Amino acid sequence: MLTALSATTSRHIRSLCLLTLVPVLTALGASGAAQAAAGQAHPNLWPRASSRGLVDARTEAFVSRLLAHMSLEEKVGQMVQADVSSIRPEDLRQVPLGSILAGGNSPPLALGSDATGATASAWVATAQAFGRVALESRPGHTPIPLMFGVDAVHGNSHVVGATVFPHNVGLGAARDPQLARRIGEATAQETAATGFDWAFGPTLAVPQDERWGRHYEGYSEDPALVRRYAAAIVRGLQGEAGAGGLIQAGHVAASAKHFLGDGGTRAGVDQGDVDISEAQLIGIHAQGYPAAIEAGVMTIMASFSSWQGAKMTANRSLLTDVLKQKMGFAGFVVSDWNSHGQVPGCSNQSCPAAINAGIDMLMAPNDWKALYANTLAQVKAGEIPLSRVDDAVRRILRVKAKLGLFDPARPWEGRPGVLGSPEHRALAREAVRKSLVLLKNNGGVLPLRASMRVLVAGPGADDIGLQSGGWTLSWQGAEHHNGDFPQGQSIYAAIREAVAAGGGSTELSVDGRYAVRPDVAVVVFGEQPYAEGWGDLKMLEYQAGDKRDLELLRRLKAQGVPVATVFLSGRPLWVNPEINASDAFVAAWLPGTEGGGVADVLVGDASGVARHDFVGKLAFSWPRTAAQTGRGAARSDPPQFALGYGLTYRDHRATLALSETSGVTATQTNFANYLIQGRAQPPWSLLLRHGERTVPLAGGAGEVDSVVSIRAVDADGVQEGGRQLSWSGQGRGEVAIAGPPLDMRMLSNGEAALVLDYRLDEKPSAATHLAIGCGPSCGGALDLTSTLNQATPGEWRSVKVKLSCFRDAGADVSKVTEPFVLNTAGRLRLSLTTVQLSSDPAGAICPPRSPR
Ligand code: BGC
Ligand code: BGC
Repeated sequence: MLTALSATTSRHIRSLCLLTLVPVLTALGASGAAQAAAGQAHPNLWPRASSRGLVDARTEAFVSRLLAHMSLEEKVGQMVQADVSSIRPEDLRQVPLGSILAGGNSPPLALGSDATGATASAWVATAQAFGRVALESRPGHTPIPLMFGVDAVHGNSHVVGATVFPHNVGLGAARDPQLARRIGEATAQETAATGFDWAFGPTLAVPQDERWGRHYEGYSEDPALVRRYAAAIVRGLQGEAGAGGLIQAGHVAASAKHFLGDGGTRAGVDQGDVDISEAQLIGIHAQGYPAAIEAGVMTIMASFSSWQGAKMTANRSLLTDVLKQKMGFAGFVVSDWNSHGQVPGCSNQSCPAAINAGIDMLMAPNDWKALYANTLAQVKAGEIPLSRVDDAVRRILRVKAKLGLFDPARPWEGRPGVLGSPEHRALAREAVRKSLVLLKNNGGVLPLRASMRVLVAGPGADDIGLQSGGWTLSWQGAEHHNGDFPQGQSIYAAIREAVAAGGGSTELSVDGRYAVRPDVAVVVFGEQPYAEGWGDLKMLEYQAGDKRDLELLRRLKAQGVPVATVFLSGRPLWVNPEINASDAFVAAWLPGTEGGGVADVLVGDASGVARHDFVGKLAFSWPRTAAQTGRGAARSDPPQFALGYGLTYRDHRATLALSETSGVTATQTNFANYLIQGRAQPPWSLLLRHGERTVPLAGGAGEVDSVVSIRAVDADGVQEGGRQLSWSGQGRGEVAIAGPPLDMRMLSNGEAALVLDYRLDEKPSAATHLAIGCGPSCGGALDLTSTLNQATPGEWRSVKVKLSCFRDAGADVSKVTEPFVLNTAGRLRLSLTTVQLSSDPAGAICPPRSPR
């Protein structure tokens, strides 16, 4: 890859390589690091880079002319981005925003009868509807094209029919930056064909802890590898500038993210704090950025996380002094989803501190209107200098100009045959082949002879959704069916095809029970899809306390069937028992829609000669125990499989039995499922409260002072599948679900909602409040009375309440000990089957705030 870079770039990169921690630490000492404020960077320590390709005299003159024309309202409008689900095209006439995004769960506009779901044509129509209003000529309006962004992070994966490429964790294992570049090109075409101008990628995180729920968005734990990918993927997405220095049609703006340190938070907590030195921040986490900037990256997204306790979104020294000045970044900095609302002194509706720190565009999914009005007022009041606004808008217009958006021709928009094209699918399949890492192959079980009788088993065998992981069709990527992927191929379908070609036969059986005794079994299983903090783990044991997939492997082994396991995951996990129970074990990461790539490597020809060998090598070391978290210096014992490990068909090495001591006591992370089928789920428990008295449930029932009681009831056809809660009206009684303190800031920002599945048995005779508990007088109750009064007694129904409503009602969501509290002083009877969090805010309500 180095050879493909310009001479200057390689020089910068070489100087980065030379940047060992020692001189930096010495320099820090010399400049008096001890007195330095937390989160305060020293720009002289940082590498220099340049966005020179983004700045030219012609574009700058064009931008200056435009700026001279624009009203302050129009300038501030450019700096705000709304989510497509909370704005209509006509709103742009009142609030002239500069950008729209399609959030992970956001559908396209339902335009008349044209509401065809999240398909390409619906997105094109949506982009055009907004674009028309932005560009219309009307008095006092400067027509400026919008920039429409989407999380096209592994292909244009939000859109039905797109090619879904392996997540970055797999691309890193392929160790092939040129492949990433070609994927960038294909992704750009599929994104442009759908009406978008901007992909929110690449993620240049250098994940240092597998517990992080965004681990799979990173290419490697090795900063040098991330650096090599950074330039390649940016060049793929954006292409090289063509005539007039403009990005060529069929390309989109990239967004390197999340600046900075997202992969280094303590304990891998998403949006957490990066508690490391400046030297480590530079040496580990910053390594991709100079390369991305040199490659011309047009936008950079600021991280939700903090450095030394200071939120990145408001870190002036890093955003302005380091990124824009020292690293010479001339594109614009966009903030993350309401991340400005997490800055001390700010809210989702107001945050001058973020703009003053160097954020040029604020991602304000639903509060764009208030944010726009407040920002405008703050500029008028001098709280935000006009020079800062002019600089931000210049950067945004520069990017729009260089992206060619001022040219009304959009030749790729709506182009047929691009989304999921055979060429792109072939490329994705190649990427899958190259990303597979062979961890074990005892007795040469692989490659399979295509003339065999092959059993394909396990919950991941025939599930394209599981294969694809988060950020696929929806934010979390959960619960999709093969039918949602019109062009995809499951791993089972691919194996069937390859085996049939060699005259063999296949049987699909998810639970592994077969009709005909197989010669060999391929068992596919792995993590359920997740995105962001929803994927955070406390420890690394796969299926702790519930080893279903291990049982399946052992059952097949006991029957004498050789087993090859395909493990789908966003990260290395502790799977030693599963590896021991398998003859062959393949880490397949999150391959996406092209299961064919798995079959290409696993299934040989009819005589068992491999058609493709394994080339993938671990880009992340694999833990020896479930407690072996963190990397580098933090990991004192050697890993189970080191960075760079990966067998090929030429290795005839037997893997000996691995230790099955996990190193931790089995606890599942469970921050989202409190009550399932009427039963409290560990670590959560039900309790009753009256005044100072608290009573835990014993054997599923309980009562306190004849005020409130709980008993088991049948529900949903399940014996004792629900719990009935009864209030007598003889005092204020409370039912709560309690557990260890939970930081719900990320969840409420991400629009998680509390879902109750309930049946009203007797209407409330007095006001009834739903709250979340966070210690004495932490507030935040919502009045649920009218919701309950609208329910038909005797009928099961659901209610979904946004967590942010509790926060907005005053609850301190940073330390929730009771995610569910229901209380009334009146009479009330209702039965509950489920209390849990949902990551999908669709249909969620915000009941009125209860009076204090
Ligand atoms: C994520 C970003 C993403 C953005 C838009 C945020 O929650 O952190 O990575 O680009 O949402 O969906
Ligand atoms: C959106 C995602 C976003 C997330 C923020 C979700 O509701 O759909 O795009 O990244 O919230 O945490």
